[in-house]
This record gives sequence, structure tokens and C-alpha cells, in this order.
Amino acid sequence: MLSRWARVRRLLDAVDVLEERVAALEQSSMDHRGEGDDETPLAVVPSYVSVGEGTRIGRTVAFFGTRRARISVAERCQLLDGVRVFGPVGIGAGTFLNRDVYVRPRTTIGSQVSVGPFTRFITETHDLGDASNRAGAGRTEPIVVGDGCWIGADVTVLGGVTIGGGSVVAAGSLVNRDVPPNSLVAGVPARIVRPLEA
Ligand SMILES: CC(C)(COP(=O)(O)OP(=O)(O)OC[C@H]1O[C@@H](n2cnc3c(N)ncnc32)[C@H](O)[C@@H]1OP(=O)(O)O)[C@@H](O)C(=O)NCCC(=O)NCCS
Repeated sequence: MLSRWARVRRLLDAVDVLEERVAALEQSSMDHRGEGDDETPLAVVPSYVSVGEGTRIGRTVAFFGTRRARISVAERCQLLDGVRVFGPVGIGAGTFLNRDVYVRPRTTIGSQVSVGPFTRFITETHDLGDASNRAGAGRTEPIVVGDGCWIGADVTVLGGVTIGGGSVVAAGSLVNRDVPPNSLVAGVPARIVRPLEA
């Protein structure tokens, strides 16, 4: 006999599955929109996505979320083709995500941030398991990118990292530690190259 809480959980999970199916249908209807340039504004966005005034979203941008894992894209943003965003995610005003940027749940990107193509925000990780399965228990840790940052192309940012406002991350870097505000960092792993004027 299931406890009352277990039944509620099961119901909520069923609602999530339904919402994901509806979202997939909404997404596939978006994928069939007419030909246009890379930045055709979205005609329809899934119900769990809020999009601010003046934001432009490429034809093949994909959103994945639910009522409990919402995605908020503020005004005047631009998301180019191939961007994939998994809620919950927040994106501040005037932010630009170049082609094929990949944003995992619990990422918060500030305002006026520029993100280069093929950059990834990877919030999930695992505890080290035993030799039979080294990818042990999974968890997510949030990523925060402060206002005004420029994150170059092909960067990986790992979970738990905060990149301070006004910072620059050089192309190809792997960011696994917090970056102080107004710093230029580069490399794998990223190290501070120099402070930038505030
Ligand atoms: C960081 C960047 C902006 C250069 O800034 P800069 O102030 O001119 O820096 P410099 O070229 O003087 O380099 C400073 C140091 O950082 C290193 N560095 C610069 N870019 C680097 C990178 N991508 N990876 C590793 N090290 C890098 C340089 O080798 C140099 O190291 P050194 O002092 O030991 O020689 C540029 O290298 C970069 O990565 N641009 C991003 C381009 C991009 O992603 N475009 C996509 C469009 S959004």
C-alpha cells in the first residue's frame, strides 16, 4: 500500500510526464515553421517559457522544461539556432547566446551577457562511485553568470561556479572555480590572466 505522499509524488510525476509530452509536441510544431532567416521570432513558445519584449529566438532553438522547471528569457535577448535550454533557467535582459549554446538546469545568466558558439553550462555531476560504477550518485549544482560577462566560444562551465559580473572567459576554457568580477580568465582549467577595469 502506497503512502499518501507516495501517491501524491506519483501523480506529480505523471503530470510532469504529460507536460513533457505536450512540450515535445509544441517543440515539433515549432520545428516545422516556415523557412526564414536564422532569427525568425518564435511564433509559439512552450507554456513554461516566458519571453520578454524584443527577444529574438532562432528557428531551431529547443526548450525543455515543465511547470516546475520554468525558463525565463528577459527582454531584448537573442538566442541563435541550435541553442538548447533545460529549465529551470533564467536569462537576463539583452543577453546573447550564439549558435549551439547548451544550458543545463539551474543556470542563471545575467543581463548583457555574450556567450560564444558551442559553449556549455553543465550543472550536473556525480559523486565518485566504486570501481563497478565510478559515476555514482548524481546531483546538480547551480551556475551563475554575472551581468556584462563575455564567455567565449567552446567554453565549458561546471556546476557550482559563479562567474563575477564584467568578466571575460577566453575561448576554449574550462571553468571549474569561481571567477572574481571583472577578471579575464583563460585555459583548462581557467586561471586568472589579469584583472579588468571595473
Ligand atoms: C581572451 C581574448 C579576448 C584575448 O584577450 P587579450 O586581452 O587580447 O589577451 P592576450 O591575447 O593578450 O592573451 C593574454 C594571455 O592569455 C592567453 N590566452 C588568450 N586567449 C586564450 C585562450 N583562448 N586560451 C588560453 N589562453 C589564452 C594568451 O596566450 C596570453 O598568455 P601569455 O601572457 O602567457 O602569453 C581572446 O583570446 C579570446 O579568447 N577571445 C574569444 C573569441 C571568441 O570566443 N569568439 C567567439 C565570438 S563570441
